[in-house]
Amino acid sequence: GQLEDLMTIEDFERESEKNTEPKIWRYVSHGAGIGQTLKRNCEYFQRYLFRPRVMRDVSQLDMGTTLLGEHINSPICVGVTTAQDKMHVDAELATAKASRAHRTCMVVSTWSSVSMDDVATVEGLKWFQIHPFHHREETTRRLVTRAENCGYKAIVLTIDSRVVGREFGRLMSSGGFGFTPLHELPNLKEFGKIEYHDPSASWEYVDWLKTITNLPIVIKGILTAESANEAIQHGADGIIVSNQGARHLDGMVASIEALPEVAKAINGRCEVYLDSGIRRGTDIIKALALGARAVFVGRPILWGLACGGEAGVDRVLTLLEDELSNAMALCGVAKVADIDNSLVRHDTRPHV
Ligand code: FNR
Repeated sequence: GQLEDLMTIEDFERESEKNTEPKIWRYVSHGAGIGQTLKRNCEYFQRYLFRPRVMRDVSQLDMGTTLLGEHINSPICVGVTTAQDKMHVDAELATAKASRAHRTCMVVSTWSSVSMDDVATVEGLKWFQIHPFHHREETTRRLVTRAENCGYKAIVLTIDSRVVGREFGRLMSSGGFGFTPLHELPNLKEFGKIEYHDPSASWEYVDWLKTITNLPIVIKGILTAESANEAIQHGADGIIVSNQGARHLDGMVASIEALPEVAKAINGRCEVYLDSGIRRGTDIIKALALGARAVFVGRPILWGLACGGEAGVDRVLTLLEDELSNAMALCGVAKVADIDNSLVRHDTRPHV
């Protein structure tokens, strides 16, 4: 079949455009502004070059690792995204099944098109993602309690889109192309029509969150040593180095560009992950070498979903795993714990 003909994530990107409504595809695949950071997220990986180890036994490769103590088969995780029902009718259920088959972790959005309880009926490691919502007692507390009760293993708090980017806002409010109004989304129905984003929230929100749940808190959207230190001071159990796939603010540093500074500041005090721009196995090995424990993949999962539902997501994950294991073997590392800083160096050539 057709899925087997898609050999790279770029093939999935091209193919998914054919079976997706143009405005939806734009919402999924484009970035903010002139797309400077969108491009930089992917291209900056090229600035790191491998220093491979030779004559190592790579006959048995093991990509397994742990996320906050839970075993996963590879450091390739399913990032949090919305509009999954616009990619495929099975939406999050398809993604969750593929994630389960690969024994990895999936992050489910508050704005998911299938309710968090229904996604949780598919076995497998899952985290639930929230924003610092207004009316925290009525909204956030209830969402977190529900997530806890249906078996989510961590809460991911997204802190980098306190207001939405301008193009994003325009696209969302232009209507007429099938986005479900927020108050009709399955996780939010019970709250009625309310204003969600609380632009006044500060780190105090995280302190409060720590008092209402025993689940680990993962802070998503850190790009600097300063905010990494703040996250630790407020009890973060993990952080995701991310610029949200450059969807809101253009002109930010690439995520992989920010990783060394953040990893250095954290210095082992909590787990560090990365998302934004992961498109191939070599990107993943570079992220691990620069201090990430695992990576989360956003758009490629949606493109896979659009190309073939569960089978499409499965194929995307298989492709990235195959590329990662191949790159590991060629770099002379047999297990992910052996991937360290000595495996890459920064390209010193001047760039245009
Ligand atoms: C996202 N992302 C996102 N992040 C988040 O914290 N909450 C959310 O609801 C969403 N929704 C969302 C929808 C869509 C369509 C996309 C493409 C992305 C951001 C996502 O989790 C992740 O940070 C980026 O997608 C990672 O970049 P790549 O892998 O897409 O380059």
